[in-house]
Amino acid sequence: MNKDLVILGIESSCDDTSAAVLRGSKVLSNIIANQSIHSKYGGVVPELASRAHQQNIIPVVDTAIKEANIKKSDINLIAYTKGPGLLGSLLVGSSFAKSLSLGLDIPLVSVNHMKAHILAHFIDQENHKKPTFPFLCLTVSGGHTQIVIIRDYDDMEVIGTTLDDAAGEAFDKSAKVLGLKYPGGPLIDKYAKEGNIHAFTFGKPKIKDLDFSFSGLKTSILNKINSSLMSDPEFIDKNLNDLCASIQHSIVTILLDKVKKAINQTNIKNIAIAGGVSANSYLRQELQTLAKKEYLNIYIPKFEYCTDNAAMIAIAGKYEYLNNKITNYSESASARLSF
Ligand code: KG4
Ligand code: ZN
Repeated sequence: MNKDLVILGIESSCDDTSAAVLRGSKVLSNIIANQSIHSKYGGVVPELASRAHQQNIIPVVDTAIKEANIKKSDINLIAYTKGPGLLGSLLVGSSFAKSLSLGLDIPLVSVNHMKAHILAHFIDQENHKKPTFPFLCLTVSGGHTQIVIIRDYDDMEVIGTTLDDAAGEAFDKSAKVLGLKYPGGPLIDKYAKEGNIHAFTFGKPKIKDLDFSFSGLKTSILNKINSSLMSDPEFIDKNLNDLCASIQHSIVTILLDKVKKAINQTNIKNIAIAGGVSANSYLRQELQTLAKKEYLNIYIPKFEYCTDNAAMIAIAGKYEYLNNKITNYSESASARLSF
């Protein structure tokens, strides 16, 4: 394994423009430009996201190279997000990555964003042990909710997925009902810290196997809030912390119930979490409690590698490259890329 491979990662699948430089598995820089423009619309507006990526991509890559204290000519490999994501956003990152690879005359690898969330566990991180194969990963983001068996860096199988909304959407849509800004997940997490998880109960999905559903929960929350607002217009303000704690408890319980089921079915006791929702403090806390009870080895990434970032794209690119999966310039971005 080439420890000194210098990799530039580029991520532009949704509303964050990110570039990172890795030397081997060590992060030299990881720059993220968030797009605040979407918060007033209550969700990501695809057209505005592509335009913001166009504005951000060169300054972000430039800053990543400067912060890594390297020269452009030191880069050996470029990795970019091929999908899944918003097509217009993906096209900005992929076109830029292709042009730079051609200009620098270095190889290019395309990366699956969801695999990259998982492979973020293999970035060198202080006080973080890397998972041993096989492990299960609960991958929870704004667009996806999956339970994956990882047998090797390039051998992954999705054994459970959401039938409707993703876990991140469940957080964001609930937050919107409460009048909180997008993205609502981190705000629910914050207010929930002061609330009672048992203050309100919401409908539980009855979905077979290892699949998830969050649409019923959303309806249940909406009904509760609408009916309560009729008798008390200040219901949300008076109960915000308890509502956030109860909603968060419902979402995390749905997630962990399926993780327990997956552990029983596969007998795999190495459990990781990945994706934006894995930044949730209650999910992390409850997973730790479960780990103690069930003697699990758990792997929780650092916050900065949970939400979208290019360091995870670079590490995933490293493994693609070591598997000789060099990308052809005619390969195109794919909004619905599967595993
Ligand atoms: O992985 P990510 O950054 O982007 C996608 O690939 O979708 O995930 C974004 C999602 C959003 O839905 C956001 O609300 C959620 O992750 N999120 C959280 C927290 N931090 C981010 N949800 C709950 N608690 C958090 N602390
Ligand atoms: Zn993501």
